[in-house]
Amino acid sequence: MKKTALITGASKGIGKELALIFAQNNINLVLVARSREILSEFKEHLETNYSISVLVVVKDLCTASSAEELFSEIKDNHIEIDYLINNAGFGDYGTFADTSWERYEKMISLNVTTLTHLSHLFITDWKGRKPGRILNIASTAAFQPGPMMAVYFATKAFVLNLSEALDQELKNDNITITTLCPGPTHTSFGEESKMNASDVVKNVKIATAKDVATLGYVSMMKGKTTVIHGSINKVAPFAVRFMPRKWVTKLSERVMRRS
Ligand SMILES: NC(=O)c1ccc[n+]([C@@H]2O[C@H](COP(=O)([O-])OP(=O)(O)OC[C@H]3O[C@@H](n4cnc5c(N)ncnc54)[C@H](OP(=O)(O)O)[C@@H]3O)[C@@H](O)[C@H]2O)c1
Repeated sequence: MKKTALITGASKGIGKELALIFAQNNINLVLVARSREILSEFKEHLETNYSISVLVVVKDLCTASSAEELFSEIKDNHIEIDYLINNAGFGDYGTFADTSWERYEKMISLNVTTLTHLSHLFITDWKGRKPGRILNIASTAAFQPGPMMAVYFATKAFVLNLSEALDQELKNDNITITTLCPGPTHTSFGEESKMNASDVVKNVKIATAKDVATLGYVSMMKGKTTVIHGSINKVAPFAVRFMPRKWVTKLSERVMRRS
């Protein structure tokens, strides 16, 4: 029987590339994002070019009830999810005080609350009944505090810590949690997060969304725990283990204030 993957943030960027890889591997899809037209066109493209079926769910995942609503919609359609890809997320470059509370509230809801809620709904549904795999998209931002993007970095640290803990907790339950940590990647994220307007990502090697998605897919299928994309991106997460945290935060600020 065909398997099914649920991908949040599947209308563009890394999520869209992940959807293409799942389609190429004959896996049915549930695609979630806010952009109805983009998702409908993408569904048509996928169903025309691959022998899979695609359900589109147009939803703002920043709202408190969104995870529960999405789960119910999947159950109402009698779909069994085998792979949950928590990919939707956004950041915002600037000082803590210069960004509105409303923006932070949405960021925490999307990057943290909905990701945790969806993980809880599916793990509870799978445990003791069927195997399942989760791919959570964190970031290299997860490994240190990030002045100028303090909330975003903190949300990604949450994702990394939650995912590693759950992967360990579920070792005997046939459920794996893989955390993918991309560095700067060529998607809409740079514009959305205002990072393109700063110098933070200038002269930095930018990965393609396809390469990042491929690493995520392969690693999740192997049941790996944490993967960082790109050899340069692995240096900082390794080095911070040997430095006093104060130095780490100061160095991080120096990099993040380049604007
Ligand atoms: N690009 C990078 O440099 C980079 C680096 C490290 C980690 N990441 C992480 O990678 C993940 C994917 O980002 P990306 O780079 O592919 O960014 P992207 O191109 O901006 O894509 C973000 C996706 O999330 C969806 N989304 C945003 N807000 C949403 C909401 N409220 N409800 C439902 N869907 C929503 C967007 O679709 P709609 O607009 O249609 O809703 C879109 O499909 C994020 O978690 C990001 O933090 C990115």
